Amino acid sequence: MKTNLLALFLLAATTAAAQRQEVVLTDNWQFSQDQQQWQTVSVPHDWAISGPFDKKWDLQRVAIVQNGEKEATEKSGRSGALPWIGQGHYKRTFSIPADFKGCAQLVFDGAMAEPTVYVNGQKAGYWAYGYNAFRIDITKFIKPGSNQLAVDLQNVEESSRWYPGAGIYRPVTLVLTGQDRLDRWATFIRTTAIEANKATLAVSAKSLGKANAIEVELRDHKGHVVDAHHADVNDKGEVEMTLQVVNPSLWSPETPYLYKAIVKLMQNGRTVDEIAQNVGIRTVKTSKEGGFQLNGVTRKLKGVCLHHDLGPLGAAINKAALIRQIKTMKEMGCDAIRTAHNMPSQMQMDICDSLGMMVMAESFDMWIYPKCKNGYARFFKDWSDRDITNLVLANRNHPSIVMWSIGNEIPEQWDPKAVDIINRLQGLCHQLDGTRPVTQGMDRIDNALKSGFAQAMDVPGMNYRVHKYQKAYEQLPQGFLLGSETASTVSSRGVYKFPVKPTDKGVYADGQCSGYDVEWCSWSNLPDDDWRWQDDMPWVIGEFVWTGYDYLGEPTPYDEYWPSRSSYFGICDLAGLPKDRYYLYRSKWQKNAHTIHLLPHWTWGTAQPKKARGKQKKGDTALQPENRVGLVTPVYCYTDYPEGELFVNGKSQGRIKKNPAERLDRYRLRWNDVVYEPGELKVVVYDENGKNCGEQVLKTADKPAQLRLDAWTQSDKPALKADGDDLAFVTVSLVDANGTLVPYATDQLRFEVEGAGQFRAVCNGDATSLEQFTLPTMKLFAGQLVVVVQSAKQKGNLTLKVIDDERKLEKTITLKVG
Ligand code: GAL
Repeated sequence: MKTNLLALFLLAATTAAAQRQEVVLTDNWQFSQDQQQWQTVSVPHDWAISGPFDKKWDLQRVAIVQNGEKEATEKSGRSGALPWIGQGHYKRTFSIPADFKGCAQLVFDGAMAEPTVYVNGQKAGYWAYGYNAFRIDITKFIKPGSNQLAVDLQNVEESSRWYPGAGIYRPVTLVLTGQDRLDRWATFIRTTAIEANKATLAVSAKSLGKANAIEVELRDHKGHVVDAHHADVNDKGEVEMTLQVVNPSLWSPETPYLYKAIVKLMQNGRTVDEIAQNVGIRTVKTSKEGGFQLNGVTRKLKGVCLHHDLGPLGAAINKAALIRQIKTMKEMGCDAIRTAHNMPSQMQMDICDSLGMMVMAESFDMWIYPKCKNGYARFFKDWSDRDITNLVLANRNHPSIVMWSIGNEIPEQWDPKAVDIINRLQGLCHQLDGTRPVTQGMDRIDNALKSGFAQAMDVPGMNYRVHKYQKAYEQLPQGFLLGSETASTVSSRGVYKFPVKPTDKGVYADGQCSGYDVEWCSWSNLPDDDWRWQDDMPWVIGEFVWTGYDYLGEPTPYDEYWPSRSSYFGICDLAGLPKDRYYLYRSKWQKNAHTIHLLPHWTWGTAQPKKARGKQKKGDTALQPENRVGLVTPVYCYTDYPEGELFVNGKSQGRIKKNPAERLDRYRLRWNDVVYEPGELKVVVYDENGKNCGEQVLKTADKPAQLRLDAWTQSDKPALKADGDDLAFVTVSLVDANGTLVPYATDQLRFEVEGAGQFRAVCNGDATSLEQFTLPTMKLFAGQLVVVVQSAKQKGNLTLKVIDDERKLEKTITLKVG
């Protein structure tokens, strides 16, 4: 009897599995820009990222009103100086089984931009916004056997304030089901209460077709069923049910515990469709009394804003690259990201769920008033409801998402009539998801308070202008506010400007910003200014720093300086390498590890005789550091410890404490009068009780002697998956014989890849570099760069060889692909 039951169960399970097929359409796409010449590509794909860089691609004569500019001037590189404007055409075939009688759907996670989708020559759908997920029912267009799918895209000029990417840059999935099927976006599982030892979850699900019951099982990470429920659908095909979990493991950034719900659609006791859904048990609340609370515990958001591009990979998403981004931020102590200023990808949200990263999921950079000539304002009236609907439906099951954002620096902030738009969009979020608050980033708080705009939001978000926090707070009925965008401090990795001068006007002939982290924009400030408010005022519920990583486009303060083409705002550079600022945030945010980080580097001219330093060619600064022997070269230490003593070649430069009364001394240890001499720089740090807690030593680099390769992979081992998509990020550093980085090196390197994989891209983090990301050669910037290699689908070894022709140096690294 038992065997028969099991056989029956297995049969039911196979039938269900056979009914639903979700196929990601990755390979064998044909791509063309002119419909004449076609090339085979795989999706996700960004046609513009290989360049070449040229100011002609996105040259503009505009005034950037948000930045306070009144007169139009020539701007270059604002959207990356890459060829993303124009048309793109994609096509490929997919097959439908001969006996298929079910329903077919295409799910796009985003296509840049204005995708029109054709199936077998017939128009099957269109979506205006390039950032949103959308679904198209293609049942009536398909036939058994081979089918033709085509996607036309167009990107118009001045439609973006940053590099939007170009192409089908996120996955496309073909979903085949029976006629009786579940609607994935109608499945919504959320925590409604967490009491002493019990969590209550509400489940909504929907049957499309004739099946009459839905069963939901919640399983823990070992696969044990912790609760299950069965209900008949109502006359709309819907069910609402409640699950209870005793002693739940709660989801949080520190404990990203995920349960799995198995949702089954039943017809007369038989499973006809089934979907699996990750579930994180957690609650979110904002209030006057508690500020921002996760699982009932007040915490301040330690967030960063992220644009969607992945540096040298462009907008084309990749799992390993996204994991690297999130992990690097987490190691800094960051616990939240804001998807500025648009909808996130599903892949990124899955990663945030599983690694533990809270998310503010944003939607728009503008509403009706355009911020750039051809931006989303063209579509807002007709599409904003549909866009918010898809944002919420596609994403509301992600526990990582803790709030929705309906806009960034919307010009209508001054307009009392625009409060109606808030009510409509925020109301729609509430209607589709009663569990999360809604925010937006406001940059004109005086106007927004006058118009009633700021008061209307669940979470009033202020961008910059900390000096207005107090006054705003006093007028806000919510009783708290969020730093929805903060800092916009600018710096270049490994570049230091002298004399060190805090300024919002730092521009230099080399197109770089100072790594001392003392430069900001006229509208923005330094990390220290934000923390003061967050630490002193319980009603500031946290921040989202602009930005976690440099991104393509918006090269402020060099909007008018060619060849700058990417931002300087990042805590990490465009290659993903930490700038010094990373350690400043880490010293404040990371509570599980100590930080002791000295800056600048200590190679400003060596004690060696001139001839030992090597020959210098005219115009080549690569072989010589700037000579600062005998010059004042301030030293900063970013540390969570309150006190430190600095030594230059054993001579004390003073033992100092952080000083809460001074703008730059509350969170940093600074020795402003240090005179450079080559040798050794050392800091010893002390805790509150004066106990010696450790030290850091920097050494003057000797002449360049070897290349060092450090690989980052998602497996944490020198190994990649043989899936044709896994990536290793290999940091290349030029070092001296003792392994000390040569921080002034700009050597031209070459890369060769052999075996089970290929070269994918390279980036050195220099915002002024016009070298193409996709060619296997690049100059070091401040002694370093990152090479990205990609696994093949075949197992084997992948070997990357890095060659410095000029110095006759070579280094290889081998990764196992399996
Ligand atoms: C903000 C804006 C961001 C970015 C930033 C640069 O005002 O929201 O998108 O432009 O300024 O500082």
